[in-house]
Amino acid sequence: MLDIGGEVFATLRGSRADERMLLRHARSVDEARRVLRRADALAALAVFQAPGGLSPVEFEPLLSLSQATEWIALVEPAALESREFRAFLLRAFHDYHTLPVDPQRLAVILGHARGLASMRRSVSADPDDGDGQTGEGPAFGICGNSPAMRAFTQRLRKVIDSDAPVLIGGQTGTGKELVAHAIHRNSRRAAGPISVVNCGAIPATLIQSELFGHEKSAFTGATQRKIGRIEAANGGVLFLDEIGDLPLDMQASLLRVLQERTISRVGSTQTLPVDFRVIAATHVDLAQAVRQGSFREDLFFRLNVLQLVVPALRERGDDVLELADLFLRRTLAQHPGSRPRGFSARAIDALRAHDWPGNVRELINRVQGAVVMGENRLIGPEDLGLAVATAPLRESLTLDDARASFERNLLASSLRANGNKVSQTARQLGVSRVTLYRLINKLNIPLDH
Ligand SMILES: Nc1ncnc2c1ncn2[C@@H]1O[C@H](COP(=O)(O)OP(=O)(O)OP(=O)(O)O)[C@@H](O)[C@H]1O
Ligand SMILES: [Mg+2]
Repeated sequence: MLDIGGEVFATLRGSRADERMLLRHARSVDEARRVLRRADALAALAVFQAPGGLSPVEFEPLLSLSQATEWIALVEPAALESREFRAFLLRAFHDYHTLPVDPQRLAVILGHARGLASMRRSVSADPDDGDGQTGEGPAFGICGNSPAMRAFTQRLRKVIDSDAPVLIGGQTGTGKELVAHAIHRNSRRAAGPISVVNCGAIPATLIQSELFGHEKSAFTGATQRKIGRIEAANGGVLFLDEIGDLPLDMQASLLRVLQERTISRVGSTQTLPVDFRVIAATHVDLAQAVRQGSFREDLFFRLNVLQLVVPALRERGDDVLELADLFLRRTLAQHPGSRPRGFSARAIDALRAHDWPGNVRELINRVQGAVVMGENRLIGPEDLGLAVATAPLRESLTLDDARASFERNLLASSLRANGNKVSQTARQLGVSRVTLYRLINKLNIPLDH
């Protein structure tokens, strides 16, 4: 059996590290996996000792098991000669220590790592008071603590307690679908199914049989009986997403179902009773669609019994930061070993200042992009595509302004590409370090991450 770090563990036993923390030794990668899943380790050591020891490939999956753990590598000096191994250390570890172990120094490194890990947890801990939760985590699984979201959650709680139809409004990407699923999951119909119809995505020719199902041979190509989405909602919830896109003739059929609570499959004369709660969502203003004649008023009144409007992201204050952290942790779990660990102060300013026309979905996309593309430990506004806009090219722009704007962009991107190393950037741009420093000052380019 592979005994990873047995000797190191023996050395640590009885040292300062042993007095102050609970040490666990995993003798194999499998055991490490079990320990990490069970225990809430603040810091962890990985020993890379040839021959037959742990390899980077074996190690990397452990990173995603416990995002909040700070890892320290113990390595043989010879391993540092490999560029690939050095890159791996930088990518995956908080710190490293060369073998043989110096217990005093290692205890200090471990102490720092634990301090950092617990500080990180105290900052990212959810301040939510736990209302509406079954365990840890935000109310009904919907992140956000701003006044707008608190008011929303209060309404949501009442909606969940009732069995009446709900109409969910809100701009694109605000979380309407998430809310519909939260209603189902927390309601008295949770044990029943949720049948989802995306009214905008089904071709007009198929929508009838999608909703109502059909009997075998009801039409050419109907080789088997098919249960429709409405029948599939029996005992649970029918979620009609993007209801504003439902064609007018289908609106009439749906209204009949809601009035009579029965359906007939296409090609059948038999009527079947169905029992479901209806939840509809739309990003268009249905009242206006009614005025314009593209949505039936009687159907609108049937659906619009309880209303929820999911607030736009720009109305949620600092929830944007909490959400950005959540999506960063999720993305890192999918890309263990990527470099970014958090957001720079400038990135936080940019997240607060942005208008978020695409709401939460836009935030997710920007964070994912930054994790994949970011080359620094901290994500900057540029990685999020939220660089402070330079003055747009207008007719009144002077040549000096245009030159400064161009130089600022070029310098900022070169510095970024060179990891903020001034000498390296100066060499690449063909100027002296002194000139580069002068330009950085003149053009006000931050070097802070
Ligand atoms: N408060 C939240 N906490 C966690 N994830 C969220 C939150 N709000 C939205 N999301 C996530 O954001 C993404 C977009 O949400 P969703 O698809 O529910 O929005 P939508 O309003 O239905 O958008 P569209 O109008 O484009 O259909 C999803 O991945 C969802 O899980
Ligand atoms: Mg949606």
